[in-house]
Amino acid sequence: MIGNVSGNGIAVGITGVGAYAPEKVLTNADLETMVDTSDEWITTRTGIRERRIAAPEQAASDLALPAARQALEAAGVDPKELDLVVVATATPDMLFPATGALLAEELGARGAAAYDLLAGCTGFVYALAQAYGAVATGLSRQALIVGTEVLSKITNWNDRGTCILFGDGAGAAVVQPVERGGILGFELGADGSGGPDLCVPAGGSRQPITSGALEEEAQFIKMNGAEVFRFATRIMVTSAEELLAACGAGVEDVDLYVPHQANKRIIDHAVKNLGLDPGKVLLNIDRYGNTSSASIPIGLAEAREDGLLAEGTRVLMSAVGAGLTWGSVYMTWTEG
Ligand code: UT7
Repeated sequence: MIGNVSGNGIAVGITGVGAYAPEKVLTNADLETMVDTSDEWITTRTGIRERRIAAPEQAASDLALPAARQALEAAGVDPKELDLVVVATATPDMLFPATGALLAEELGARGAAAYDLLAGCTGFVYALAQAYGAVATGLSRQALIVGTEVLSKITNWNDRGTCILFGDGAGAAVVQPVERGGILGFELGADGSGGPDLCVPAGGSRQPITSGALEEEAQFIKMNGAEVFRFATRIMVTSAEELLAACGAGVEDVDLYVPHQANKRIIDHAVKNLGLDPGKVLLNIDRYGNTSSASIPIGLAEAREDGLLAEGTRVLMSAVGAGLTWGSVYMTWTEG
């Protein structure tokens, strides 16, 4: 789906952002001792130097909580006032209850509608679209959206094709009506034919966790890296181009590009093909790896911290992930 929403009645924006990453750092040198790989290969093929790994007792809601609190404080919103909590994650605390409901309880947001959303690495952009819809129609007045992942717990640490890529972390944003600026448009989609290219086969109703599933290591991420890479390079460009055109904007109008951090080569390809100024690109993949749904909100929180987001900054975000899904959002940043 695609839409220029700037003419809609209520302007909706992000009024606060926050992020959290676990303390433990896993470097490429550490990975050299675990699988047949090298710092040189990982750096040149992905741009990743290190990633964060959750402690054994940390689950998705534990990473989400400090990120959410930071976002709420930045927005000046009391958690009790939240009426919607959407948690985008592929690594929920458990299948149910939803991590969104667990997080809402931890925050003291009892009574808010709270649920999980599964769109892989595109989860945060999908969550932003859902929160936008709820706030723009007046159904919600203060929504919290979170991307949180503990991918280290579904990573096969013997598979060098995937274990070098992923990291853990969380990012959050408060979505509310704003007086100026706000969200200008979305472009979202999915192509389920690519589902098998990036999946966790076991743990659902298709293949429950049995000793047979564990023997096959089917509880871990399986990825056809080359296929996902091909898809990602194409869709990151077309999604952003179609959205900007729908919004009557050109690439020169974009002040800050916050792409999903999957592989620096995918980002470089998108920047080159879109004709974006490389100086306008938020990059932190070297420090976090691919944190899936957390990657864009972590990027936003860092950009805010580094003074890259000011009143009127026009921000373009794009992501691609399991599904295969993709999504872009274009917005004008609002301060205070
Ligand atoms: O968020 C969305 C989810 N995922 C993605 O966006 C990931 C998209 N895919 C990718 O980022 C890349 O495909 C990878 C980084 C996963 C792989 O990079 P590549 O340049 O596509 O490498 P490749 O799979 O074509 O493999 C090239 C070679 C192979 O060796 P041979 O067959 O040429 O001898 C691999 O076995 O590199 C080998 N290789 C490695 N070597 C050292 C694969 N992984 C590693 C490794 N260390 N970790």
